[in-house]
Amino acid sequence: LGNVFTHDPGFTSTSACESEITFIDGDKGELLYRGYPIDQLAEKSHYLEVCFLLLYGHLPTAQELEDFEMRVTRHTMVHEQITKFFSGYRRDAHPMATMVGVVGALSAFYHDSLDINDPWQREVAAVRMIAKVPTITAMAYKYSIGQPFMYPKNSLDYASNFLYMCFAVPAEDYEVNPILARAMDRIFTLHADHEQNASTSTVRLAGSSGANPFACIAAGIACLWGPAHGGANQASLEMLREIGTVDRIPEYIARAKDKDDPFRLMGFGHRVYKNFDPRAKVMKESADEVLGLLGIENNETLKVAKELERIALEDEYFVSKKLYPNVDFYSGIILEAMGFPTSMFTPIFALSRTVGWISQWREMLADPAQKIGRPRQLYTGATRRDYIDVEDR
Ligand code: SDX
Repeated sequence: LGNVFTHDPGFTSTSACESEITFIDGDKGELLYRGYPIDQLAEKSHYLEVCFLLLYGHLPTAQELEDFEMRVTRHTMVHEQITKFFSGYRRDAHPMATMVGVVGALSAFYHDSLDINDPWQREVAAVRMIAKVPTITAMAYKYSIGQPFMYPKNSLDYASNFLYMCFAVPAEDYEVNPILARAMDRIFTLHADHEQNASTSTVRLAGSSGANPFACIAAGIACLWGPAHGGANQASLEMLREIGTVDRIPEYIARAKDKDDPFRLMGFGHRVYKNFDPRAKVMKESADEVLGLLGIENNETLKVAKELERIALEDEYFVSKKLYPNVDFYSGIILEAMGFPTSMFTPIFALSRTVGWISQWREMLADPAQKIGRPRQLYTGATRRDYIDVEDR
């Protein structure tokens, strides 16, 4: 078995790729990062420790963690020229559009000096991505609201630094709310990796050609943007807002079941989880905790989300289709409570998933047998036929 879309001439479809990083059992609703259950990591660990785990395969010693955090912290700034890329975008451009462009532009700053055949340089690229994507994500947000960029502060932890870069302004001091920082860090952890989902497969396929990691991550960001994938967190909250009140839920349940209606319950269903998504369970608990601590537990959107989940889980259609809330169903409620617009939900997913993408890119390139991916096709077009001159058509 190779690594990306290895295909055996004996098969008509591609076979799986091998990876040691993340395990999912869709029937049991189990998600393990390097063997550790996601609910334990969300409760006991923190995102940079999870980044170390995904990259290197073991939980770090205190010294390893300190060294890793220092390496990330000291690479959070971006080249000052990067700020110029934003000015070409309209202010109302979707932040995912600016992220695809600006992360891809990192290729122009590091690609020439990066030999991806050198394991150490691959690791340097990985740490640079983990360090710089939050800064670029915060810049995308600041640009979209016409506020000045805020530089990272090395005195802050990873999640607090991101919130600071998003919500602080030069005109006054800004204290990051520790409740929000903890919730932000947990959201990063819950989205960090997820086996061979569409965007990770995109990164692997792009990386299999030898493309530089910054361009590969930009390709992953582009794929994640789709509403069937990472774009669902934005679509899910917008759907909950459109439903508005609990009494309108039956109308939307009926639409989701109507085969002639393209409407789907956003934040519901999954290609792999045919039971519950373990991340949704933790996210729901986190939403309760954060909104309670912020004194907004009577948030109407949360009420609609919980009632929609309750009704759907009792509805024969959804039960028969094994449709449960996924990671995107509750995350938007927390992000909205933090003050983010819905347009920032998928960029935050992309920020979180960068470590998964780059860990899998590194794992693939470490395999000496890896070849360029080449998915097979089943040809269903016309059989061989001769050209017909236009006057004879
Ligand atoms: C993510 O792959 C990953 O790991 C992705 C991800 C990650 O971490 O990387 O987990 C992140 O992308 C989560 C998914 C976010 N997307 C959404 O919430 C969008 C809404 N959900 C769907 O569009 C859908 O459920 C998918 C895309 C997630 C899965 O699509 P499938 O594979 O078509 O769904 P399925 O095979 O499980 O569907 C079974 C049936 C189908 O009906 P039939 O064709 O059998 O008649 O259920 C229906 C679907 O039409 N269905 C839904 C539905 N999801 C599936 N009907 C109503 N509402 C829904 N949400």
